[in-house]
Amino acid sequence: MNIKEQWKTQIFAAKEAYAKAYAPYSKFQVGAAALTESGEVVSGCNVENASYGLTVCAERNCIAQAIIKGERNIQSVVVYTEQEVLTPPCGACRQVIAEFLPENGKVMSTNHLGEYKTWTVAELLPNAFTPKSLLGDIEIK
Ligand code: THU
Repeated sequence: MNIKEQWKTQIFAAKEAYAKAYAPYSKFQVGAAALTESGEVVSGCNVENASYGLTVCAERNCIAQAIIKGERNIQSVVVYTEQEVLTPPCGACRQVIAEFLPENGKVMSTNHLGEYKTWTVAELLPNAFTPKSLLGDIEIK
C-alpha cells in the first residue's frame, strides 16, 4: 500500500472509532487509529466517566489496543474529530505517544472537512522523557 492509501485507511478507522466515542459530558467526540509495526491499524475512541478525571482519550485507547495485540512499536497515529479547528493530542497523550512511537513517527490530526496537519513526535513533545531517559541514553537538544 502506498503512503497516501495508508493514511486513508487509518483515517477511515479513526472516523469509525469517532462514531463510537463515549463522550456524554463534553460532547466532544474523538477517534484515533494507530499503524503498528506489522502494518495493522488499530483504533480507539475517547471514553468519559461520571467521575470526570477518569476520562481516557482516543489516542491512549488506540495505543492500548496495539499493546494488547502485542504491538509495541507504532509507526503513526491519526486523530479524527468533527471540529472545524483541528484537534491536537493533549499533553498526557503526547507523553504516551512518545513511549511507543519513534521521534520521527508521525501524528496526524484531521477532520470531516478533509483538513489535516501532521507533526513528528519530536515536534509534539521536544526533549521527551522516554524509556531511553531511564537508561541515561538520550541527549537534551
Ligand atoms: N480528547 C481526546 O480524546 N483526544 C484529544 O486529543 C483531546 C481530548 C477527549 C477527552 C475528553 O473526552 C474530550 O475529548 C474533551 O476534552
